[in-house]
Amino acid sequence: MAEFKQWRNENRTYLKDVIPLDTPFNLKVEASSICNLKCIYCAHSKKDHGVYEGNMSLKLMDRILEQSKDFPHKFKVMEMFSFGESLCNPNLEKMICMAKGADVAEKINITTNGLLINKERADKLIASGVDIIRISLQGIDSEGYEKTCGVKVNFVNFIENLKYLYDNRGNTSVRMKIADIAIADIPDGQKRFEEIFGSIADSIFVEKIIPMYADMDYSTINNNIYDNAIHGRENIKQDEMHKVCNRPFYRLRVAADGKVTAACCDIPNDFYYGNIYEDTLVNIWNGEKRKALLMMQLQGKRFDHPICKTCMIPNDITTEADVLDPWAEEILMKLSPSY
Ligand SMILES: C[S@@+](CC[C@H](N)C(=O)[O-])C[C@H]1O[C@@H](n2cnc3c(N)ncnc32)[C@H](O)[C@@H]1O
Repeated sequence: MAEFKQWRNENRTYLKDVIPLDTPFNLKVEASSICNLKCIYCAHSKKDHGVYEGNMSLKLMDRILEQSKDFPHKFKVMEMFSFGESLCNPNLEKMICMAKGADVAEKINITTNGLLINKERADKLIASGVDIIRISLQGIDSEGYEKTCGVKVNFVNFIENLKYLYDNRGNTSVRMKIADIAIADIPDGQKRFEEIFGSIADSIFVEKIIPMYADMDYSTINNNIYDNAIHGRENIKQDEMHKVCNRPFYRLRVAADGKVTAACCDIPNDFYYGNIYEDTLVNIWNGEKRKALLMMQLQGKRFDHPICKTCMIPNDITTEADVLDPWAEEILMKLSPSY
């Protein structure tokens, strides 16, 4: 039976002790920005989310890997997904093989809704050497899927394919989580979730949905959602909004079209640093645009910024190792001694 535990709380490094980082801990590579679902809590459900939709080319992946070798260290993790559904890219498995071969990351993970996994893709994914496959579930039956993400799913088939993936996973860890709103109205929802998925995953959990995309109306989705925002997805008791967003201190994202951004959760409004066709990842990571964003966070000016001022993501921390508020002054001095 799967262990009931979160995905994100393993071996966190205290950020305050290690920043500024010469190498991002986490490089997000958006294999595809297309999505086959329209989950009601995700900006993909909006017709006009304003993000380029397409698959990353193998040529772009090659460029990312070549440039990644210029960082002094390996990334702790390369995450082969971002705003879209990576399995929409038929070359995903090839890209993971390329990344494994380039040896630029300690781990390569994907998060996927899993709906495009059939036996053939399960075999290819496992053969690619991907370390962790995380499946985001949106229901415990086909009606639930239709309600949460607007598509008809052959649920029996879906479970069969996930079971095949799990049974043949080799060294790949298969983890699953369900959105809390998908079982909120079902009296024995969590029990049924555990019964269905507990025997076909290494670990499972229920994830809180939080207001993540700035211009979406979350009040219609769930009454608890703004409470969830303060305490984040990880259930860590917090009383007020954090001043400093930790994300840009350790993450970098390359979008499917080559844009390099901060990897905010609010992808449609993500901070643009540059383009991998015009500059290198190392230059962008050490560049002025990123530094300006870090300084703004440390100086407590995020509450005046149009993108950051209403964002709840700084409270979406994983453990206290992620919190930077108490050390903002100290880190500011390290980043800019003349400040
Ligand atoms: C944007 S999706 C992209 C990857 C892939 N398509 C998937 O479904 O896992 C990445 C993850 O973010 C989660 N997510 C998206 N919007 C969220 C929100 N408002 N609150 C909490 N999690 C959210 C999804 O459930 C998913 O696990």
